[in-house]
Amino acid sequence: MARFDMYLLESLSSSWRFTRFGSKLGLMLGLLWWGAMGHSAIADDVSPGLGRALDPVELKRLQTHVFADGRGLPSGSGNSRQGAKIYVEHCAGCHGDNGEGARAMELSGDRSLLASAYPDRGIAVYWPYAPTLFEYIKRAMPPEKPGSLSDSEIYAVIARLLEFNGLIQKGQRVDAAFLSSLDMPNKDNFRSKYED
Ligand code: HEC
Repeated sequence: MARFDMYLLESLSSSWRFTRFGSKLGLMLGLLWWGAMGHSAIADDVSPGLGRALDPVELKRLQTHVFADGRGLPSGSGNSRQGAKIYVEHCAGCHGDNGEGARAMELSGDRSLLASAYPDRGIAVYWPYAPTLFEYIKRAMPPEKPGSLSDSEIYAVIARLLEFNGLIQKGQRVDAAFLSSLDMPNKDNFRSKYED
C-alpha cells in the first residue's frame, strides 16, 4: 500500500513538472487556496472567544466609581445580620466562615502592621478607607459572578466584614453615609510613594 502511494505521488508530481507553466499554476492555485483558507480562519476567529458583550443594563450596573471619601457610593443599605446570610452563601467557601481565609486570603485577623515580618491582610489593616470596599466587591466578588449582588446586598456583606474585623456593632446599618464617615484604624500608616 505504501509503495503504491509513493508511486502515485511520483507520477502526479512528474506530470505537474511536465511543463514549467504547470508548476507555476500549481503554486498559484495553492497560494490562493491557502490564502482563502487562512483568511477565513482568521476572520472567524479574530477574538479569543472569551466573555461576551454586556447589554446596556449590565453596563450601567457596573458603572460605579467610588472614591476614598465616599463619592460615588450608591443608595441602599444593609446590616450584618442580612450580610451573614449572603456571606455564607457567596463568600465563606473561599474566605472562611469568619473571614479568616481559606482558599482565598483572610478578610479579618490580627492587626499586625503591613511593615511587620508577617503582615496581616485583614480589612482593618489592609484598607485605609472603607468606601472603596464597595466598588471592589461590586466589580470583582464573587469572582465567578461579579456584579451579581444588589447594592443593598453589598452594603450588608460589608457590614458583616466590618463586624468580623471588630469595626462595628452587630445590627449597625451600613450605607453610603456610614461608610464615608468610618475611620479605618490603620489609615495613617499608609504612605504615598511620593511622600518622603
Ligand atoms: C471563588 C473564590 C472566592 C469567592 C467565592 C469570593 N472571593 Fe473574595 N477573593 C477571592 C480571591 C482569589 C481574591 C484575591 C483577588 C486578587 O487579589 O486579585 C479575593 C479578594 C477579596 C477581597 C480583597 C481582599 C484584599 O484585601 O485584597 C475582598 C474584600 C473580597 N474578596 C470579598 C469577597 C466577598 C464579600 C465575597 C462574597 C460576596 C467574596 N469575596 C467571594 C476569592 C473569592
